[in-house]
Amino acid sequence: MALNVVMLGPPGAGKGTQAERFARTHGVPKISTGDILRDSVNTGTELGRLARKTMDAGELVGDDVMIGIVGERLERPDTRAGFVLDGFPRTVPQATALDTIMKGRGPLVVVDIVVPEDVLLRRLAARRICGTCGVNALIEWTAACGICGGALVTRTDDGVEIVRGRLKVYHHSTRPIVEFYSGRPTFRVIDGNQPPDVVTSSMDRAICEASSAHGSTKEVRL
Ligand code: AP5
Repeated sequence: MALNVVMLGPPGAGKGTQAERFARTHGVPKISTGDILRDSVNTGTELGRLARKTMDAGELVGDDVMIGIVGERLERPDTRAGFVLDGFPRTVPQATALDTIMKGRGPLVVVDIVVPEDVLLRRLAARRICGTCGVNALIEWTAACGICGGALVTRTDDGVEIVRGRLKVYHHSTRPIVEFYSGRPTFRVIDGNQPPDVVTSSMDRAICEASSAHGSTKEVRL
C-alpha cells in the first residue's frame, strides 16, 4: 500500500525541512506547493505572475488554482508508491478536494507539527534561503549556499509584519483543517519544538505506527 503523507503546521513549523528528509529517506516525492509557486515566480510563468503579489502579502492563492496544481501533480506515476505533501491542503475546500483525489489510493497519514508562536517568529526572522535553488540555509552556511553556491537571501514573505499576517491566515483558514482530520485513525500530532533530528525520529515513528495501524504493507525504515 502507498505511503501518502500530509504535513500540517503553521509557517515555520518545519514542514519543508521534515518533508525533505522524509522524501529522501523513504524514496517518495516531496510535493511542496510553496516551492512550486516560488519556482513559477522565479521562472516568470503566468502562474508565478498571478501568485507573486498574493504570496508577498502572505495571503493564500485561490483554492481552484491550488487544487488544479496538486491534482495534476498527483496524477504523475512517481506518486503511485506514495508522496509527502508540504503546504497542501491549507483550507477546508482543499482538504475536501484531496479526499476526492485520494479515492482508491490508500490511506492518507496526516501529521500536524505543533510549535509555539514565539518560536515560529524567531525561526522565520532568522531564516535565510538560497536565492538560486531556494533551499533553506543551514546554520553553518555563512555567505553562500552549500549546495549550489548561490547567495543567501531573506524570503520575501519573512518580514515580521508579513509573518504575523501569515500566522493570522493560518489560524483563520488552515487551522480548521486540523479539526477536519483530527477524528481520523491516521492523524498524528508531533512536537516540532525539538531539534530537527528528534522531530524526524518522532515523525517516522508516528507515520510508521499510523500506516501500520491502517494495514499499510510498505516498510517504513526508522
Ligand atoms: P509555504 O512555502 O508553504 O510557506 P509556509 O507554510 O508559511 O511555511 P514555511 O515554508 O515558512 O515553513 P515550514 O513549516 O515549511 O518550515 P521550514 O521547514 O521551512 O507557502 C508560501 C506561500 O505560498 C503561502 O503564504 C501562500 O501564499 C502560498 N501557498 C502555498 N501553498 C498554498 C496552498 N495550498 N494554498 C494557497 N496558497 C498557498 O523551517 C522554517 C525555518 O525553521 C528554517 O530556517 C528551518 O531551518 C528552521 N527549522 C525547521 N525545523 C526546525 C527545528 N526543529 N528546530 C529549529 N529550527 C528549525
